[in-house]
Amino acid sequence: MTDHQPGTVYLVGAGPGDPELLTVKAHRLLQTCDALVYDSLVPKEVLDLVSPACERQFVGKRRGHHSVPQPSTNAVLVEMAQKHRCVVRLKGGDPFLFGRGGEEAAYLAQRQIPVEVVPGVTAGIAAPAYAGIPVTHRAAGSSVTFVTGHEEIDKRRPSVNWRSLAAASDGLVIYMGLHNLPRIAEELMAGGLSPETPVAVIQQGTVAGQRCLKAQLVDVADKTRAEAFKSPSIVVVGQVIDQQVEACRPMPAAVTMPIPF
Ligand SMILES: C[S@@+](CC[C@H](N)C(=O)[O-])C[C@H]1O[C@@H](n2cnc3c(N)ncnc32)[C@H](O)[C@@H]1O
Repeated sequence: MTDHQPGTVYLVGAGPGDPELLTVKAHRLLQTCDALVYDSLVPKEVLDLVSPACERQFVGKRRGHHSVPQPSTNAVLVEMAQKHRCVVRLKGGDPFLFGRGGEEAAYLAQRQIPVEVVPGVTAGIAAPAYAGIPVTHRAAGSSVTFVTGHEEIDKRRPSVNWRSLAAASDGLVIYMGLHNLPRIAEELMAGGLSPETPVAVIQQGTVAGQRCLKAQLVDVADKTRAEAFKSPSIVVVGQVIDQQVEACRPMPAAVTMPIPF
């Protein structure tokens, strides 16, 4: 940059893993950006779309380390926008769904840095779809809730009211829910869901290593533990699981997802 005007930061959704689920806009921006700031859950094949001349910065979790704290990531984005015309901030799935995209957009806008969001295909729809499971169905689910199962450590924030959700939503799509699955299942049953309610867990959706386990609310935590399910996994709760159509499942892409440590 020579005119000291900051560049534009694009908050881009990388989709759930299969590179063919990138949007056309995300694909174009990856090929033309001058700087890339990315985190975990983005396969190498997607990162390889950027030019070798592009400045890259990883801000995810590395083995033995915590994620880069959010203030540091914000500072990296500002620094990149001051140096480059087109900055891609790449996030798995959709940037505004459990991806802190909203916080980063607000931070940049407050500093008069041009920022634009590029929505992506979220794992909560794509992973069940690659298992042949529709997240709504006229006969089995007219409402669906996207919810985080990651218990908020900061108790000053409101936490998820699982018992109310059990009554309010036909289906649940739970992100980051594996660790707390025993407690989540208990809370959903205490909220009125039958112990026989169908549950599906899809690990590594859309990429090599994809697997799907079907269970009931009462035994899903034991089964996922017995079968050593790991992150990243999506948990789907509701009658829609019985509407699974095996025949419509796409082949997972032959790419590997980096496993967050
Ligand atoms: C921080 S959230 C980010 C969600 C992302 N913004 C999205 O829209 O998909 C990360 C969680 O998304 C889910 N996830 C992401 N990619 C996945 C995949 N390919 N298969 C299964 N779950 C996935 C997992 O629950 C993981 O712990």
